[in-house]
Order: sequence, then structure tokens, then C-alpha cells
Amino acid sequence: MGCLLLPLAAQAGQLSEAEFKAQAKQKAMQLGKTLKQNLQKAVKEGGLPNGVEVCKDIAPAIAAELSTDGWLVGRTALKVRNPQNRADSWEKSSLMAMVKGLEEGLEPGALVQVHVDDTAGEYRFMAPIMTDGLCLNCHGAALAPAVKEAIKQRYPEDQATGFAAGDLRGAFTVRYQQDD
Ligand code: HEC
Repeated sequence: MGCLLLPLAAQAGQLSEAEFKAQAKQKAMQLGKTLKQNLQKAVKEGGLPNGVEVCKDIAPAIAAELSTDGWLVGRTALKVRNPQNRADSWEKSSLMAMVKGLEEGLEPGALVQVHVDDTAGEYRFMAPIMTDGLCLNCHGAALAPAVKEAIKQRYPEDQATGFAAGDLRGAFTVRYQQDD
């Protein structure tokens, strides 16, 4: 009944900037939460090398699950582990703006980047991903040999080590392309 009557804007695939931002944030948080839960479970059950294996499979799968109806959700960074997560030019400049913001003392919550191009129907959003203690096991400066080996086998081009707690590790990146 009433719930079937979608607002006109939603039918046309159009979003206001505020609506886009709220939905993008929701998707980014969902990706982050689901990933972290799965990662913690995998590490608990099978140790860190198992975490690497699980992360390799589930990170792209969870992102794909959230990428429907014109939405594209993922993670990126200036230094990536998976080359498929490499930043494009807007993402790169957004990540650099985040690094600069942190240097200037801004809180992570204030580092969100939004780009809306109404004419092209393109909406983009990025939110920072900070490095904490758990992350150091696989992204820190000193990895356990078994973890190092597990990463090397699956990601021969890995660039994503050497991080310290509190560093910007990367960002959630969300794109919405309006259908015409
Ligand atoms: C058990 C090892 C492990 C732990 C712990 C871990 N990661 Fe990762 N991380 C990976 C792997 C493996 C990938 C590559 C996933 C893929 O193929 O998409 C990755 C990829 C990423 C990416 C995507 C960009 C890239 O480099 O490809 C980000 C961002 C990231 N991790 C952040 C974190 C953060 C933040 C934490 C701590 C909360 C964390 N990771 C903990 C193994 C780990």
C-alpha cells in the first residue's frame, strides 16, 4: 500500500546531495562493520594467515553485495594491497586531502569527501579508514613470518604495509550513477 508509493525522485533515480550522502555513509559503514566482523571471526578461528585468506575472498564479495541499483561500494588507498582497489584521480586527491586534514589536526569524521555532478548524474563519497591495533598485524611495519608469506603468495604487488596506529590506512569509496 503506502510503502509501494516511492517518492518521485527515487523513481527517477535522482537523489539530493543530502540523501546521497546519508545513503553512501550507510553503505560504507555496512561494509566496514561486516568486514571487521568476518575478519575478527576468521582470525579467531584460524589465526592471522587465515584472516588473509578470508579477507581476500570476502572483501570483494561483501562490496559486490552492496553494489546494486546504480551503487558501487569499495575500498581504496594511496598504497594498496589488491591492485583492483587502486585509487582513480578523484580518489587520489581525496585521499591526499584526508592526509592533509589529519596533519592539520582534523578528526576522521571531518574528512569525508563528497563530489556531486548533477549534469553527469554522478555522485561520489569517500570516508576515511583509520589504522588501529588489529590492522597492524597485516598492515604494520613488522609482520609475523607466516602472515608475510600468506600476503606475498596472494598479493605479490602488496604496498600496504608499514602503517602505524592512527595513520590513514585508506578510505571507503562509494559511487552512485543515476540512470538517464
Ligand atoms: C588478517 C590480515 C588483515 C588484517 C588484520 C587487516 N587487513 Fe586490511 N587487508 C588485508 C587483505 C588480505 C587485503 C586485500 C583485500 C582484497 O583483496 O580486496 C586488505 C585490504 C585492505 C584495504 C583495501 C585497500 C587495499 O590495500 O587493497 C583497506 C582499506 C584495509 N585493508 C584496511 C584495514 C584496516 C583498517 C584494518 C584494521 C581494522 C585491516 N585492514 C586489517 C588483510 C588484513
